[in-house]
Amino acid sequence: MTIVARTFATFAEGFGLSYADEVSGETYFATFATAEPDPRRAAIWDKIALIENRMEAALRPLAKALGVIPANLAALRQSGRDEALADPIQCWEAAMEEMAREYPAYLDEFAGLKVIAPQEAFDVMDLLYAHEVAMIDFAKLEIAGRHDSGAPLDAFLARLQNGPDGRIQ
Ligand SMILES: [Fe+2]
Repeated sequence: MTIVARTFATFAEGFGLSYADEVSGETYFATFATAEPDPRRAAIWDKIALIENRMEAALRPLAKALGVIPANLAALRQSGRDEALADPIQCWEAAMEEMAREYPAYLDEFAGLKVIAPQEAFDVMDLLYAHEVAMIDFAKLEIAGRHDSGAPLDAFLARLQNGPDGRIQ
């Protein structure tokens, strides 16, 4: 899979699609967690699904204000499950390599979106960027065989729960 950074005509369009990706992302990663026989790896997929869930909550107020909450959230959640089932994890190492190699495209996309963002969106755009960095850093540590590979994910969750710019509501 090659992920290509999208560009958007308006901030609202891009933010709405980013919001939708968090909704489908949660069920996508949760589906991997359910299918994963190794408990440590399943827990990691679960943690990433939780991050997507928290990101959806963090993005929701601005998505609402912009009027870009998708009408059919249930269909969006199902699309995440369907996507994961259509392309299941065959090999953990390959999945980590793909994450480390492909997810930086999302960083490019978020950076481009921030350029056209209104100032009130800066904090949440930084959060969106940081959640992708946490996943990429995790994947790199996992590839390196580090036992503490989950640390970037934990640190990001702690930021969401406790950080001054990471409030959920
Ligand atoms: Fe995400």
